[in-house]
Amino acid sequence: NYYAIIMAGGIGSRFWPISRTSHPKQFIDILGTGKTLIQNTYERFLKVCPKENIYVVTNENYTKLVKTQLPDMEDQQILTEPVMRNTAPCVAYGCFKIENLNPDAAIVVAPSDQQILDEDAFVNSILRSLETATANDCLVTLGIKPSRPDTGYGYIQYTDNTINEDFHKVKTFTEKPTLEIAKTFIQSGDFLWNAGIFVWSAKAIVKAFEQYLPDMHEIFADARPVYNTENERSHINQAYQQCINISIDYGVMEKADNVYVLPSDFGWSDLGTWASIYDLAEKDYVGNAVIPSEKVIMYDSSNCMVNVPGEKLVILKGLHDFIVVESNNTLLICPRDQEQNVKQVVADVKSKF
Ligand code: GDD
Ligand code: MG
Repeated sequence: NYYAIIMAGGIGSRFWPISRTSHPKQFIDILGTGKTLIQNTYERFLKVCPKENIYVVTNENYTKLVKTQLPDMEDQQILTEPVMRNTAPCVAYGCFKIENLNPDAAIVVAPSDQQILDEDAFVNSILRSLETATANDCLVTLGIKPSRPDTGYGYIQYTDNTINEDFHKVKTFTEKPTLEIAKTFIQSGDFLWNAGIFVWSAKAIVKAFEQYLPDMHEIFADARPVYNTENERSHINQAYQQCINISIDYGVMEKADNVYVLPSDFGWSDLGTWASIYDLAEKDYVGNAVIPSEKVIMYDSSNCMVNVPGEKLVILKGLHDFIVVESNNTLLICPRDQEQNVKQVVADVKSKF
């Protein structure tokens, strides 16, 4: 009864210019492991459930990329969206479809763009969460011990109330707080980062949509007769036009009251921004991370992240705490502490061309 849904329809705009709308980061071997991020994600879930129970939800523009990179997947396991409406519709489509097939399903929903170092610990956490979600018809999220007041994450405040040993009842869920609030969360010590990996019974998530996003519930419940028929595509394409643009974090997780968190430690990194690559990269003694290193010369520069592939000679003089990245004939230079704003900048740049 275990299923997995991989969310792979984002464009990764904070990773621009390497991540482009035509080729987002989940389809790139960003860490140089020989496999793309979505391939690594898929392989992790092969250890959790049978391969025919793994689904990918993505934009129709990326269907070809998914098929090429995950050739083992059948067409009906790749769910396509006609427009980007963020993760709530993506979760609803995948979960309602699975619930329609198997009302007793328990589902793990995960991003396609994360790095997990300890796969055995990861698989163990997911299996225990699936078991807990099945037994309690609740929403489970995995929590990571925070290391800095990052404003790109959800923050989970948990209580000492537990079920199944160490699944803590969640008191509050705050998606992407301001820096001031994130700082108070970190100081208080009883907060975890939301890993963005959710586990729930099909029943519990369908009920949560009914309570917190009733319009979306209606849209995807109405589609029940067409799931797994030849009418699914055209019906879903129309359904998406009616969906509001909202993430599952704002739409459901902030509001729901039957949420439990499993504090987890499996070498998790969200590859969300350039700073996350900087954190993982090897650095020299003044904190410069340079990939590749041969063609870059630095003079009194520190804590910079430089990624300029190719033949170009790059010289930095007196530059501190900057990101310098080039890809697709586009060069981005930005202070490291402003990397969350790259998203807005990209939107503005795109509107100019
Ligand atoms: N199918 C589909 N459609 N997938 C999408 C869409 C969409 O419209 N939008 C985003 N995704 C995918 C992305 O490709 C990514 O794999 C995943 O859904 C999460 O989306 P992000 O856009 O990366 O979310 P985030 O990083 O800002 O925030 C989430 O993850 C954080 C941890 O990495 C939240 O869950 C936070 O609370 C969490 O801390
Ligand atoms: Mg992300």
